[in-house]
Amino acid sequence: SDLEHLIRRPPVVTVMGHVDHGKTSLLDAIRKTRVAAGEAGGITQHIGAYQVEIEHAGDPRRLTFLDTPGHEAFTAMRARGTKVTDVAVLVVAADDGVRPQTLEAISHARAAKVPIVVAINKIDKEGASPDRVKQELSALELVAEDWGGSTVMVPVSAIKGENVDKLLEMILLVSEVEDLQANPDRLAKGTVIEAHLDKAKGPVATLLVQNGTLRPGDVLAAGPVLGKVRAMVDDTGKRVKAAGPSFAVEALGFSEVPTAGDEFEVYPDEKAARAVVGDRASEARATRLAQQMA
Ligand code: GTP
Ligand code: NA
Ligand code: MG
Repeated sequence: SDLEHLIRRPPVVTVMGHVDHGKTSLLDAIRKTRVAAGEAGGITQHIGAYQVEIEHAGDPRRLTFLDTPGHEAFTAMRARGTKVTDVAVLVVAADDGVRPQTLEAISHARAAKVPIVVAINKIDKEGASPDRVKQELSALELVAEDWGGSTVMVPVSAIKGENVDKLLEMILLVSEVEDLQANPDRLAKGTVIEAHLDKAKGPVATLLVQNGTLRPGDVLAAGPVLGKVRAMVDDTGKRVKAAGPSFAVEALGFSEVPTAGDEFEVYPDEKAARAVVGDRASEARATRLAQQMA
């Protein structure tokens, strides 16, 4: 409604590219820029997503990175028709150039209408040729800005941490063109990024909040799974009392392991959440039965 309190939310970023072109190394390098800045200490744990904060035009600005294979994030999102990612970072190794999974990544991003920022990686290597990468990408209609096109391309070395700050700046700039807004005052909704069963803690899920604010005690339906948030931590293992738009947390308190890619939504009370979950469960049973009879 008009009365909604909308704020700018951080961009959610996915890293994609051909095997061994340096996706994991780049995500590590980005995470390190934050740790180096004293943003967070402690042992990082793998929760499938993390936040970084950088200074941009004098303001502190956040970005959320999905630390999950990019194609999975896009597949889940396409299946649900929801948009999880705001910016796709395409990693292309400067010593290898465009390869089959580079093409795949481009088509995923295009199908989802997500802007692409190219990280030309491994520029420290002998035989690295950023210009060759730009040329190959031009043939795919991704033309670098300094070549008269509109695609932001940043030469980086994930291993040496070179130009990673510049890449983050550019991602923020590109995301500013999009209308990334959300209302932190409503009940949370978002997407299950990852989930697994922990022997000690029970079902554990990484939740990306896309609108509203998630808090411990909230009752939610994640697809057909009921949950009551028992505890939430960020990727440094720190307890979180509130997760606003674009924030990702690991949450405990589900009746079963939710499915990655499913949407979650918080309800005003347990009765409402149970009703939604009950409907979905019987829908799923009916579908299974129909399949068995077919
Ligand atoms: P997959 O997840 O298997 O697809 O690979 P990836 O894209 O995550 O690549 P990863 O980060 O595992 O890097 C692959 C190899 O390239 C590793 O040996 C890295 O050390 C190396 N590498 C990554 N980035 C750089 C870089 O900037 N410079 C150099 N010299 N090596 C790099
Ligand atoms: Na690898
Ligand atoms: Mg990897």
